[in-house]
Amino acid sequence: MALYQLLRLFLLWACLPHFCCPEIMFRRTPVPQQRISDAHVPRSDGKILHRQKRGWMWNQFFLLEEYTGSDYQYVGKLHSDQDKGDGSLKYILSGDGAGTLFIIDEKTGDIHATRRIDREEKAFYTLRAQAINRRTLRPVEPESEFVIKIHDINDNEPTFPEEIYTASVPEMSVVGTSVVQVAATDADDPSYGNSARVIYSILQGQPYFSVEPETGIIRTALPNMNRENREQYQVVIQAKDMGGQMGGLSGTTTVNITLTDVNDNPPRFPQNTIHLRVLESSPVGTAVGSVKANDADIGKNAEVEYRIIDGDGTDMFDIITEKDTQEGIITVKKPLDYESRRLYTLKVEAENTHVDPRFYYLGPFKDTTVVKISIEDVDEPPVFSRSSYLFEVHEDIEVGTIIGTVMARDPDSTASPIRFSLDRHTDLDRIFNIHSGNGSLYTSKPLDRELSQWHNLTVIAAEINNPKETTRVAVFVRILDVNDNAPQFAVFYDTFVCENARPGQLFYQENSIAIFIVKLKMEQMD
Ligand SMILES: *[C@@H]1O[C@H](CO)[C@@H](O)[C@H](O)[C@H]1NC(C)=O
Ligand SMILES: *[C@@H]1O[C@H](CO)[C@@H](O)[C@H](O)[C@H]1NC(C)=O
Repeated sequence: MALYQLLRLFLLWACLPHFCCPEIMFRRTPVPQQRISDAHVPRSDGKILHRQKRGWMWNQFFLLEEYTGSDYQYVGKLHSDQDKGDGSLKYILSGDGAGTLFIIDEKTGDIHATRRIDREEKAFYTLRAQAINRRTLRPVEPESEFVIKIHDINDNEPTFPEEIYTASVPEMSVVGTSVVQVAATDADDPSYGNSARVIYSILQGQPYFSVEPETGIIRTALPNMNRENREQYQVVIQAKDMGGQMGGLSGTTTVNITLTDVNDNPPRFPQNTIHLRVLESSPVGTAVGSVKANDADIGKNAEVEYRIIDGDGTDMFDIITEKDTQEGIITVKKPLDYESRRLYTLKVEAENTHVDPRFYYLGPFKDTTVVKISIEDVDEPPVFSRSSYLFEVHEDIEVGTIIGTVMARDPDSTASPIRFSLDRHTDLDRIFNIHSGNGSLYTSKPLDRELSQWHNLTVIAAEINNPKETTRVAVFVRILDVNDNAPQFAVFYDTFVCENARPGQLFYQENSIAIFIVKLKMEQMD
């Protein structure tokens, strides 16, 4: 028991009218209503009021809880005016705990508590007192009710409902921003003394956080707390009763505080210049490569939109923002050609999509980088001068005659020489041949229009340096008729022949019909 408690006890007892004997006298007259309520108003000093001239005392005993002595704790004394001290009266106790917790000396009226009492368990005990004549067993006093009120001592420390709290507050919050409120409860009597008066203090977590002593509200205490530097804080709060004074009991709790993200960081490209390469053969839509601006923030505060804002490649390339990876993917917008342009430059901008006007003072929430894209040469196959060729040839030409020439070139800058060949599947009879060096087609067998009017050939051009790069082209060969069969006359031709005509002379020709004089027999004409 603390010294001040001893002292208080002493004062309590010293103030009593009968120093060692708080007494309850039996009630003779009805107590006026007002006085009954008075009687229930607890006095802070624990003093027991005494109204001697009325013959009875206030009907309350006060008892300190948590008595630690080895003997029974003295509660007080019942007394009747009729008691002459000759032992003829018998005091009887009934009600809450009578006979067990509270025992009475039937001769003297002294009441003792048999064990330690905890106010927090039960603060009032209502009992009844009787005084009877030991011999006649008749009551000498009317039965009287009284109360034993248990006085609080500070035997309960403040406790927090949670051992660990979690809370969060946005980074960069102004000093004094409320984070969370913690509240401890104290089972001691809040209406009596300071045993239940709790004051909060911070044991760990300064200088970042503070706690309001009276309310337990935790607030930020440092300006510009930056999540990107430190995200987690462990704050220990102490609640102490007795108004926080020395000797008060205390309990603690831990508050884990997380700084949540705000957009206080712009995106930043790690390099000033990024080099990418793409094959000239890449089709439109091909991804050339990606750029990424880093943002120290998280979630939507790190979201970035990419744009091409300048450069000589704005017509040729696009950029799309890949949401998942937060990368800018550069794609081919128009067909590329190494032979016409080998390098493009783009100025790419990355800008936060969710900006917070509060942090505009930190600067623009965007960044730019230069992307240089090299176009890489691809060994492209030869290109013919036409998409197809049509050669017309008379059927009677001599074997070996050139019927036409195809032309092809290598579009690459290396301009590899071309080798021509005939797809033999298109010329199974091996009627044609080609000069591999210059693409001139010639006949290797006589032609016969009656056999076939068309010879549809395929010519293959291959690069000599890279024979895998080939291109095929269709060559239509149309055989033109030469009149080597007896014509069937569709009409009758009237004609004349001169007298001096000779055999073998061309007699008549129209369209593809020719009549030669074979034998001449002159007849006299009229
Ligand atoms: C192609 O080459 C052959 C053989 O060398 C030659 O006879 C022919 O005239 C050439 N063709 C052309 C179009 O020069
Ligand atoms: C060859 O091509 C011509 C013109 O396109 C076509 O009329 C003809 O039927 C073709 N002949 C063969 C055998 O494919």
